[in-house]
Amino acid sequence: MRSMTALFAHLRRRIERGGPLSVAQFMEEALGHPEFGYYTTRDPLGARGDFITAPEISQIFGELIGAWCAGVWRTMGEPAAFHLVELGPGRGTLMADALHATKSVNGFHAAANIHLIEMSTALSEKQRMALSAYDAEPQWHRDMSQVPEGPAIIVANEFFDALPVRQFQRVLASWRERMVGLNEAKDALVFQLSGQSVKQHFVPEFLRDAADGTWAETSPAGLRIMHTLADRLAGQGGAALIIDYGHMETMPGETLQAVQDHRFADVLEAPGEQDVTAHVDFAALGRTAVNARARVHGPVTQSAFLNALGLPMRADRLAAGATNDTQAAAVISGAGRLVDSTQMGMLFKVLGVSAPDIDALPGLS
Ligand SMILES: C[S@@+](CC[C@H](N)C(=O)[O-])C[C@H]1O[C@@H](n2cnc3c(N)ncnc32)[C@H](O)[C@@H]1O
Repeated sequence: MRSMTALFAHLRRRIERGGPLSVAQFMEEALGHPEFGYYTTRDPLGARGDFITAPEISQIFGELIGAWCAGVWRTMGEPAAFHLVELGPGRGTLMADALHATKSVNGFHAAANIHLIEMSTALSEKQRMALSAYDAEPQWHRDMSQVPEGPAIIVANEFFDALPVRQFQRVLASWRERMVGLNEAKDALVFQLSGQSVKQHFVPEFLRDAADGTWAETSPAGLRIMHTLADRLAGQGGAALIIDYGHMETMPGETLQAVQDHRFADVLEAPGEQDVTAHVDFAALGRTAVNARARVHGPVTQSAFLNALGLPMRADRLAAGATNDTQAAAVISGAGRLVDSTQMGMLFKVLGVSAPDIDALPGLS
Protein backbone atom coordinates (compact mmCIF):
# COMPACT_ATOMS: atom_id res chain seq x y z
CA MET A 1 0.00 0.00 0.00
CA ARG A 2 1.57 3.29 -1.08
CA SER A 3 1.29 6.21 1.30
CA MET A 4 0.26 9.71 0.22
CA THR A 5 3.05 11.58 1.91
CA ALA A 6 3.20 15.40 1.88
CA LEU A 7 6.17 15.09 -0.44
CA PHE A 8 4.20 12.81 -2.80
CA ALA A 9 1.58 15.58 -3.22
CA HIS A 10 4.37 18.05 -4.08
CA LEU A 11 6.03 15.62 -6.51
CA ARG A 12 2.74 14.87 -8.23
CA ARG A 13 2.16 18.60 -8.84
CA ARG A 14 5.73 18.99 -10.12
CA ILE A 15 5.42 16.00 -12.50
CA GLU A 16 2.00 17.14 -13.76
CA ARG A 17 3.45 20.56 -14.54
CA GLY A 18 6.89 19.65 -15.92
CA GLY A 19 6.88 15.94 -16.76
CA PRO A 20 8.79 13.02 -15.18
CA LEU A 21 11.82 13.67 -12.95
CA SER A 22 15.21 12.10 -13.33
CA VAL A 23 16.19 9.76 -10.48
CA ALA A 24 18.64 12.48 -9.37
CA GLN A 25 15.87 15.09 -9.18
CA PHE A 26 13.71 12.61 -7.28
CA MET A 27 16.52 11.92 -4.76
CA GLU A 28 17.18 15.64 -4.29
CA GLU A 29 13.52 16.19 -3.43
CA ALA A 30 13.15 13.03 -1.34
CA LEU A 31 16.15 13.85 0.87
CA GLY A 32 16.48 17.62 0.74
CA HIS A 33 13.11 19.26 -0.01
CA PRO A 34 13.16 22.31 2.32
CA GLU A 35 9.82 21.44 3.93
CA PHE A 36 9.12 17.73 3.36
CA GLY A 37 12.56 16.20 2.67
CA TYR A 38 13.70 13.18 4.67
CA TYR A 39 16.73 14.91 6.21
CA THR A 40 14.96 18.24 6.62
CA THR A 41 12.26 16.86 8.86
CA ARG A 42 13.99 14.44 11.21
CA ASP A 43 17.00 12.82 12.87
CA PRO A 44 16.89 9.41 11.14
CA LEU A 45 19.84 7.84 12.97
CA GLY A 46 20.07 5.33 15.77
CA ALA A 47 18.17 2.32 17.06
CA ARG A 48 14.87 4.25 17.14
CA GLY A 49 15.46 5.85 13.76
CA ASP A 50 15.69 4.21 10.35
CA PHE A 51 19.35 3.20 10.21
CA ILE A 52 22.54 3.20 12.24
CA THR A 53 26.00 4.37 11.20
CA ALA A 54 29.50 3.43 12.36
CA PRO A 55 30.01 6.35 14.81
CA GLU A 56 26.66 5.51 16.43
CA ILE A 57 27.67 1.84 16.77
CA SER A 58 31.01 2.37 18.50
CA GLN A 59 32.95 5.35 19.89
CA ILE A 60 36.10 3.64 18.57
CA PHE A 61 35.19 4.69 15.02
CA GLY A 62 35.34 8.44 15.76
CA GLU A 63 38.33 8.01 18.06
CA LEU A 64 40.37 6.28 15.36
CA ILE A 65 39.37 8.92 12.82
CA GLY A 66 40.47 11.58 15.32
CA ALA A 67 43.84 9.83 15.55
CA TRP A 68 43.95 9.68 11.73
CA CYS A 69 43.35 13.46 11.52
CA ALA A 70 46.07 14.15 14.09
CA GLY A 71 48.46 11.91 12.14
CA VAL A 72 47.72 13.78 8.91
CA TRP A 73 48.17 17.12 10.70
CA ARG A 74 51.64 15.98 11.82
CA THR A 75 52.48 14.89 8.25
CA MET A 76 51.41 18.38 7.09
CA GLY A 77 54.04 19.87 9.44
CA GLU A 78 51.59 20.77 12.23
CA PRO A 79 50.25 24.00 10.69
CA ALA A 80 49.25 26.56 13.38
CA ALA A 81 45.81 26.84 11.73
CA PHE A 82 43.88 24.49 9.47
CA HIS A 83 40.25 23.70 8.69
CA LEU A 84 38.86 20.47 10.12
CA VAL A 85 35.81 19.83 7.93
CA GLU A 86 33.14 17.16 8.18
CA LEU A 87 30.66 16.58 5.37
CA GLY A 88 27.26 15.31 6.56
CA PRO A 89 28.07 15.04 10.30
CA GLY A 90 24.76 13.39 11.34
CA ARG A 91 24.43 13.73 15.10
CA GLY A 92 27.98 15.09 15.51
CA THR A 93 29.07 11.88 17.23
CA LEU A 94 32.08 11.21 14.99
CA MET A 95 33.45 14.74 15.46
CA ALA A 96 32.83 14.64 19.24
CA ASP A 97 34.66 11.29 19.57
CA ALA A 98 37.48 12.55 17.33
CA LEU A 99 37.90 15.65 19.51
CA HIS A 100 37.79 13.54 22.66
CA ALA A 101 40.51 11.23 21.32
CA THR A 102 42.83 14.11 20.34
CA LYS A 103 42.58 16.17 23.55
CA SER A 104 46.14 15.35 24.47
CA VAL A 105 47.64 15.97 21.00
CA ASN A 106 49.65 19.11 21.66
CA GLY A 107 48.45 22.07 19.60
CA PHE A 108 45.91 20.09 17.51
CA HIS A 109 42.71 21.53 18.99
CA ALA A 110 44.12 25.07 19.04
CA ALA A 111 44.99 24.79 15.34
CA ALA A 112 41.69 23.25 14.20
CA ASN A 113 38.90 25.49 12.89
CA ILE A 114 35.88 23.24 12.71
CA HIS A 115 33.43 23.42 9.81
CA LEU A 116 30.36 21.23 9.46
CA ILE A 117 28.69 20.89 6.06
CA GLU A 118 25.05 20.06 6.75
CA MET A 119 21.75 20.59 4.99
CA SER A 120 19.49 19.57 7.89
CA THR A 121 18.61 22.07 10.62
CA ALA A 122 17.30 19.20 12.79
CA LEU A 123 20.72 17.52 12.65
CA SER A 124 22.69 20.79 12.98
CA GLU A 125 21.01 21.24 16.36
CA LYS A 126 22.08 17.72 17.42
CA GLN A 127 25.63 18.52 16.26
CA ARG A 128 25.65 21.73 18.30
CA MET A 129 24.68 19.75 21.41
CA ALA A 130 27.20 16.96 20.75
CA LEU A 131 30.05 19.44 20.42
CA SER A 132 29.03 21.76 23.25
CA ALA A 133 31.44 20.03 25.64
CA TYR A 134 34.40 21.17 23.54
CA ASP A 135 35.80 24.66 22.93
CA ALA A 136 35.34 23.91 19.27
CA GLU A 137 33.06 26.77 18.11
CA PRO A 138 32.12 25.02 14.87
CA GLN A 139 30.78 26.90 11.88
CA TRP A 140 27.97 25.44 9.77
CA HIS A 141 27.81 25.70 6.00
CA ARG A 142 25.58 24.47 3.22
CA ASP A 143 28.54 23.42 1.05
CA MET A 144 32.35 23.34 0.84
CA SER A 145 32.60 26.61 -1.10
CA GLN A 146 31.84 28.49 2.14
CA VAL A 147 34.85 27.07 3.99
CA PRO A 148 37.57 29.76 3.99
CA GLU A 149 40.83 29.15 2.10
CA GLY A 150 43.68 27.27 3.76
CA PRO A 151 44.91 23.75 4.43
CA ALA A 152 42.15 21.34 5.39
CA ILE A 153 41.53 17.89 6.80
CA ILE A 154 38.18 16.66 5.56
CA VAL A 155 36.12 13.69 6.72
CA ALA A 156 32.94 12.26 5.15
CA ASN A 157 31.27 9.15 6.54
CA GLU A 158 28.11 7.99 4.74
CA PHE A 159 27.78 11.35 2.96
CA PHE A 160 28.44 10.47 -0.69
CA ASP A 161 25.79 7.70 -0.67
CA ALA A 162 23.13 10.36 -0.05
CA LEU A 163 24.07 12.36 -3.16
CA PRO A 164 21.73 12.06 -6.14
CA VAL A 165 22.51 9.55 -8.90
CA ARG A 166 21.38 9.42 -12.51
CA GLN A 167 20.57 6.02 -13.97
CA PHE A 168 20.59 4.86 -17.57
CA GLN A 169 19.50 1.67 -19.31
CA ARG A 170 20.63 0.31 -22.65
CA VAL A 171 17.56 -0.20 -24.88
CA LEU A 172 17.72 -1.15 -28.59
CA ALA A 173 21.39 -0.07 -28.76
CA SER A 174 20.78 3.38 -27.29
CA TRP A 175 20.80 4.71 -23.71
CA ARG A 176 17.61 5.88 -22.01
CA GLU A 177 17.46 7.66 -18.65
CA ARG A 178 15.43 6.17 -15.81
CA MET A 179 12.75 8.66 -14.79
CA VAL A 180 10.13 8.92 -12.05
CA GLY A 181 6.60 9.60 -13.30
CA LEU A 182 3.00 8.95 -12.23
CA ASN A 183 0.86 5.84 -12.74
CA GLU A 184 -2.35 6.14 -14.74
CA ALA A 185 -4.47 6.83 -11.67
CA LYS A 186 -1.96 9.51 -10.61
CA ASP A 187 -1.93 8.12 -7.10
CA ALA A 188 1.56 6.60 -7.10
CA LEU A 189 5.04 7.21 -8.46
CA VAL A 190 6.41 4.76 -11.03
CA PHE A 191 9.72 4.27 -12.78
CA GLN A 192 9.79 4.72 -16.56
CA LEU A 193 12.46 5.27 -19.19
CA SER A 194 12.94 8.54 -21.03
CA GLY A 195 11.31 8.59 -24.48
CA GLN A 196 14.47 10.03 -26.03
CA SER A 197 17.91 8.50 -25.90
CA VAL A 198 20.59 10.35 -23.92
CA LYS A 199 24.10 11.40 -24.89
CA GLN A 200 26.70 8.63 -24.55
CA HIS A 201 29.05 10.72 -22.40
CA PHE A 202 26.85 10.22 -19.33
CA VAL A 203 27.68 6.52 -19.44
CA PRO A 204 31.11 5.15 -18.39
CA GLU A 205 33.19 4.57 -21.53
CA PHE A 206 33.63 0.81 -21.10
CA LEU A 207 29.84 0.33 -20.93
CA ARG A 208 28.83 2.37 -23.96
CA ASP A 209 28.33 -0.65 -26.24
CA ALA A 210 26.93 -2.94 -23.52
CA ALA A 211 24.12 -5.41 -24.18
CA ASP A 212 20.48 -4.31 -24.07
CA GLY A 213 19.13 -4.25 -20.53
CA THR A 214 22.44 -3.13 -18.95
CA TRP A 215 22.19 -0.43 -16.29
CA ALA A 216 24.68 2.39 -15.72
CA GLU A 217 24.68 4.72 -12.74
CA THR A 218 26.62 7.91 -12.02
CA SER A 219 26.50 10.63 -9.39
CA PRO A 220 27.23 13.98 -11.06
CA ALA A 221 26.72 15.73 -7.69
CA GLY A 222 29.19 13.38 -5.96
CA LEU A 223 31.80 13.84 -8.69
CA ARG A 224 31.34 17.63 -8.58
CA ILE A 225 31.90 17.70 -4.81
CA MET A 226 34.92 15.41 -5.15
CA HIS A 227 36.38 17.68 -7.83
CA THR A 228 35.95 20.78 -5.62
CA LEU A 229 37.46 19.02 -2.66
CA ALA A 230 40.44 17.52 -4.55
CA ASP A 231 41.17 20.77 -6.37
CA ARG A 232 41.22 22.55 -3.05
CA LEU A 233 43.53 19.99 -1.42
CA ALA A 234 45.89 20.05 -4.41
CA GLY A 235 46.14 23.85 -4.27
CA GLN A 236 45.93 24.60 -0.55
CA GLY A 237 47.15 21.41 1.16
CA GLY A 238 45.66 18.74 3.37
CA ALA A 239 43.80 15.48 2.98
CA ALA A 240 40.32 13.96 2.90
CA LEU A 241 38.92 10.67 4.15
CA ILE A 242 35.84 9.28 2.39
CA ILE A 243 34.09 6.31 4.00
CA ASP A 244 30.97 4.78 2.52
CA TYR A 245 29.43 1.61 1.19
CA GLY A 246 30.11 0.98 -2.43
CA HIS A 247 32.39 -0.66 -4.94
CA MET A 248 36.10 -0.28 -5.72
CA GLU A 249 35.60 -0.57 -9.50
CA THR A 250 33.06 1.11 -11.75
CA MET A 251 30.50 -1.57 -12.55
CA PRO A 252 27.31 -1.95 -14.54
CA GLY A 253 24.12 -2.15 -12.49
CA GLU A 254 21.82 0.03 -10.45
CA THR A 255 22.04 0.32 -6.67
CA LEU A 256 19.28 2.71 -5.65
CA GLN A 257 17.78 1.63 -2.34
CA ALA A 258 15.42 2.85 0.36
CA VAL A 259 15.52 2.07 4.06
CA GLN A 260 12.87 2.67 6.68
CA ASP A 261 12.80 1.37 10.21
CA HIS A 262 16.03 -0.64 9.63
CA ARG A 263 14.49 -2.54 6.68
CA PHE A 264 14.79 -2.18 2.93
CA ALA A 265 11.70 -0.59 1.37
CA ASP A 266 10.32 0.18 -2.09
CA VAL A 267 12.19 3.32 -3.27
CA LEU A 268 9.01 5.06 -4.48
CA GLU A 269 6.77 3.89 -1.65
CA ALA A 270 6.83 6.80 0.78
CA PRO A 271 8.91 9.72 -0.52
CA GLY A 272 10.22 11.93 2.27
CA GLU A 273 9.57 9.24 4.89
CA GLN A 274 12.43 6.88 4.01
CA ASP A 275 16.15 7.18 3.37
CA VAL A 276 17.13 6.86 -0.29
CA THR A 277 20.76 6.13 -1.18
CA ALA A 278 22.97 4.54 -3.81
CA HIS A 279 26.28 2.71 -3.58
CA VAL A 280 29.34 4.90 -4.06
CA ASP A 281 31.57 4.33 -7.11
CA PHE A 282 34.99 4.76 -5.48
CA ALA A 283 36.85 4.29 -8.77
CA ALA A 284 34.96 7.24 -10.30
CA LEU A 285 35.69 9.38 -7.22
CA GLY A 286 39.38 8.44 -7.46
CA ARG A 287 39.57 9.31 -11.19
CA THR A 288 37.95 12.67 -10.49
CA ALA A 289 40.45 13.43 -7.71
CA VAL A 290 43.41 12.54 -9.97
CA ASN A 291 41.98 14.78 -12.72
CA ALA A 292 41.99 17.60 -10.18
CA ARG A 293 45.74 16.95 -9.57
CA ALA A 294 45.27 15.43 -6.11
CA ARG A 295 46.86 12.19 -4.92
CA VAL A 296 44.65 9.17 -4.24
CA HIS A 297 45.27 6.62 -1.47
CA GLY A 298 43.34 3.33 -1.51
CA PRO A 299 40.50 2.56 -1.57
CA VAL A 300 40.77 -0.18 1.03
CA THR A 301 38.02 -1.97 2.92
CA GLN A 302 36.79 -0.44 6.18
CA SER A 303 38.00 -3.59 7.90
CA ALA A 304 41.59 -3.18 6.60
CA PHE A 305 41.55 0.54 7.42
CA LEU A 306 40.29 0.28 11.01
CA ASN A 307 42.45 -2.73 11.82
CA ALA A 308 45.54 -0.90 10.50
CA LEU A 309 44.68 2.03 12.77
CA GLY A 310 44.62 -0.30 15.79
CA LEU A 311 40.94 -1.13 16.33
CA PRO A 312 41.55 -4.49 18.08
CA MET A 313 43.91 -2.95 20.63
CA ARG A 314 41.62 -0.01 21.32
CA ALA A 315 38.64 -2.37 21.75
CA ASP A 316 40.56 -4.56 24.20
CA ARG A 317 41.65 -1.54 26.23
CA LEU A 318 38.14 -0.10 26.37
CA ALA A 319 36.66 -3.49 27.31
CA ALA A 320 39.26 -3.94 30.06
CA GLY A 321 38.17 -0.59 31.55
CA ALA A 322 34.44 -1.42 31.33
CA THR A 323 32.47 -1.37 34.57
CA ASN A 324 30.88 -4.80 34.04
CA ASP A 325 30.88 -7.82 31.72
CA THR A 326 27.80 -6.66 29.80
CA GLN A 327 29.47 -3.35 28.98
CA ALA A 328 32.70 -5.09 27.99
CA ALA A 329 30.79 -7.46 25.69
CA ALA A 330 29.00 -4.48 24.10
CA VAL A 331 32.35 -2.79 23.38
CA ILE A 332 33.72 -5.92 21.69
CA SER A 333 30.56 -6.58 19.70
CA GLY A 334 30.30 -2.93 18.53
CA ALA A 335 33.92 -2.97 17.35
CA GLY A 336 33.28 -6.32 15.66
CA ARG A 337 30.35 -4.93 13.66
CA LEU A 338 32.63 -2.27 12.14
CA VAL A 339 35.14 -4.78 10.77
CA ASP A 340 33.26 -8.08 10.45
CA SER A 341 33.18 -9.18 6.81
CA THR A 342 29.50 -10.11 7.02
CA GLN A 343 28.58 -6.71 8.46
CA MET A 344 30.34 -3.39 7.62
CA GLY A 345 33.91 -4.61 7.17
CA MET A 346 33.91 -5.43 3.46
CA LEU A 347 30.92 -3.52 2.07
CA PHE A 348 32.30 -0.22 3.33
CA LYS A 349 35.37 1.23 1.61
CA VAL A 350 37.77 3.98 2.59
CA LEU A 351 39.39 6.38 0.13
CA GLY A 352 42.05 8.97 0.92
CA VAL A 353 42.66 12.06 -1.20
CA SER A 354 45.50 14.45 -0.50
CA ALA A 355 47.71 17.22 -1.76
CA PRO A 356 50.35 15.69 -4.08
CA ASP A 357 53.16 16.26 -1.54
CA ILE A 358 51.58 13.85 0.97
CA ASP A 359 52.77 10.45 -0.19
CA ALA A 360 51.14 8.26 2.48
CA LEU A 361 48.09 8.50 4.71
CA PRO A 362 47.57 6.41 7.88
CA GLY A 363 45.76 3.11 7.27
CA LEU A 364 45.62 3.56 3.49
CA SER A 365 48.92 2.22 2.22
C1 LIG B 1 23.66 8.96 6.50
S1 LIG B 1 23.85 10.42 7.38
C2 LIG B 1 25.51 10.17 7.98
C3 LIG B 1 25.75 10.92 9.25
C4 LIG B 1 27.13 10.77 9.90
N1 LIG B 1 28.21 11.04 8.99
C5 LIG B 1 27.29 9.42 10.52
O1 LIG B 1 28.15 8.67 10.08
O2 LIG B 1 26.56 9.12 11.47
C6 LIG B 1 24.07 11.63 6.09
C7 LIG B 1 24.42 13.03 6.57
O3 LIG B 1 24.68 13.86 5.44
C8 LIG B 1 23.81 15.00 5.46
N2 LIG B 1 23.58 15.33 4.05
C9 LIG B 1 23.03 14.53 3.10
N3 LIG B 1 23.04 15.13 1.90
C10 LIG B 1 23.63 16.34 2.09
C11 LIG B 1 23.95 17.43 1.23
N4 LIG B 1 23.65 17.38 -0.07
N5 LIG B 1 24.57 18.50 1.76
C12 LIG B 1 24.87 18.54 3.07
N6 LIG B 1 24.59 17.54 3.95
C13 LIG B 1 23.97 16.46 3.46
C14 LIG B 1 22.62 14.51 6.24
O4 LIG B 1 21.82 15.54 6.73
C15 LIG B 1 23.32 13.72 7.33
O5 LIG B 1 23.90 14.55 8.31
